[in-house]
Amino acid sequence: MQDQPLDPRIERLRELRAQTQLGGGKDKIAAQHARGRLTARERIELLLDKGSFHELDAFVTNRAGGYGMGNQSFLTDGVITGWGTIDGRLTYIFSQDFTVMGGSLGLAHAAKITKVQDMALKNGAPIIGINDSGGARIQEGLLSLVGYADIFLRNTQASGVIPQISLIMGPCAGGAVYSPALTDFIFMVKSTSYMFVTGPDVVKAVTHEDVTFEELGGALVHNTASGVAHVAAENEGDCLYLLRILLGYLPSNNMEEPPFVKTRDDPLRTDATLDSIVPDNPNKPYDMKQIIRSVVDDGKFFEIHEHFAQNIIVGFGRLGGHSVGIVANQPEVLAGVLDINASEKAARFVRFCDAFNIPIVTFEDVPGFLPGVGQEHGGIIRAGAKLLYAYCEATVPKINVITRKAYGGAYCVMSPRSTRGDLVLAWPSAELAVMGSDGAVNIIFRRELSTSPDPVARKAELVTQYKEEFANPYVGAAYGYIDDIIEPRETRPYLINAIQMLRNKRDTNPPKKHGNIPL
Ligand code: HXC
Repeated sequence: MQDQPLDPRIERLRELRAQTQLGGGKDKIAAQHARGRLTARERIELLLDKGSFHELDAFVTNRAGGYGMGNQSFLTDGVITGWGTIDGRLTYIFSQDFTVMGGSLGLAHAAKITKVQDMALKNGAPIIGINDSGGARIQEGLLSLVGYADIFLRNTQASGVIPQISLIMGPCAGGAVYSPALTDFIFMVKSTSYMFVTGPDVVKAVTHEDVTFEELGGALVHNTASGVAHVAAENEGDCLYLLRILLGYLPSNNMEEPPFVKTRDDPLRTDATLDSIVPDNPNKPYDMKQIIRSVVDDGKFFEIHEHFAQNIIVGFGRLGGHSVGIVANQPEVLAGVLDINASEKAARFVRFCDAFNIPIVTFEDVPGFLPGVGQEHGGIIRAGAKLLYAYCEATVPKINVITRKAYGGAYCVMSPRSTRGDLVLAWPSAELAVMGSDGAVNIIFRRELSTSPDPVARKAELVTQYKEEFANPYVGAAYGYIDDIIEPRETRPYLINAIQMLRNKRDTNPPKKHGNIPL
């Protein structure tokens, strides 16, 4: 049978559809590749389950025209939007196309994004934003600012309802960094992605500072110094892969439980190496990550903010198949002390877990807050209060394992029973006190020591007494502030049991419009 000639209307559709694939044109696509970056469509293809992407608004063009735009009008208007699945779960997505006017955002571009934001919120599924944009489209003037404000509003409305995750995959400026900043997690790609409010040229003009893209807003800067970004990926493929892993720990919305993932890792598995991991000398460090990896299913721990404020560790793991958020002091860095950055890092993470029904397991070994003029003037009081507030406010199951020090205000901050901690466990090496023995003896016995004939010997005696009194978990256990003292090797089975026990936990906060966390 002879082929029927194609209906010209269908032919036109196909032609236009083919045009939508070309973004700003072949040359611009080649330039994008030459910079070591994928196109907006290639990123979506790599990220979503094969064949699952359904595009919306491919035929949208800019509505504004205007200053300096000439006849520039491209199908899609520089952003690809739609929905698909990741590991079979519904996800909404937008991916900015740098080949169309540098991915800049005009009103039509913004309307495409707000449409998927609205759909994601209404249908209770995560939204992924792949950002590769020079920010507000200068030629559209006020209209592009209006477009950004429309997006920011939706970012805020969706916060705590659906996970919002931003990938930064090119040079992002202005509004293209403020929308990500309102979302839950920001992933950056080393060497090819940048975030700044204003680029190096503007910085030079205003402050006369010479700075490169990388120095001003590269992945390392934002993952180590500013803490704006949460994950630094090696390349774009790695970035998309890491995002898929993260989503596996998260529920699709705040009314759901996180996905359960069966494991072959024995829930009763013990680890005798944990019995000797805490050194006898309280001033000696050890690696808290070793404990975390030993306890979670299959040793898999997805760390958030790995390079920022390393004196505290936060991230996701599973216990007996259930997602948990882990917060842990890291004795290997600054002795695990709480400073401004660590407090803010952990506070934000605790609030995320609480918003999305993810139980929080805290591993505690904290000598206190970091003293110093810089910290005081920088607002350690306010920052520490954020973490305190976040733990107090959280109603998800909260389990605390004190491995060694729980000193001073930091004891109160790190999820004790009094702030609605559901279960507080201690290892035999735990020490609960207002401060370490040396400092305490110096303060309480200053006068006696200054007049003692042998201050060194007397001090050693007093320190020993103090340690017997406070540097153990039994006083806390006698008062019931510690629910049980466990052998370190039993931590995994105990925690898995505890997570099961707390699965139907219900707790609420008093009705209010919202609290006033000390921002
Ligand atoms: C329109 C833009 C654009 C923009 C880039 N382009 N940014 N077009 N509006 N904001 C266009 C360029 O003209 C160029 O077009 C193409 O995109 C690629 O840009 P290049 O400069 O050649 O690329 P590169 O050297 O990689 O530099 C990328 C960049 C730089 C760092 C993003 O373009 C830049 O600094 N852009 C301006 C950033 C900015 O200040 N945006 C406004 C922020 S204010 P051709 O046709 O030559 O390929 C804002 C307000 C929001 O966003 C509110 C926040 C609260």
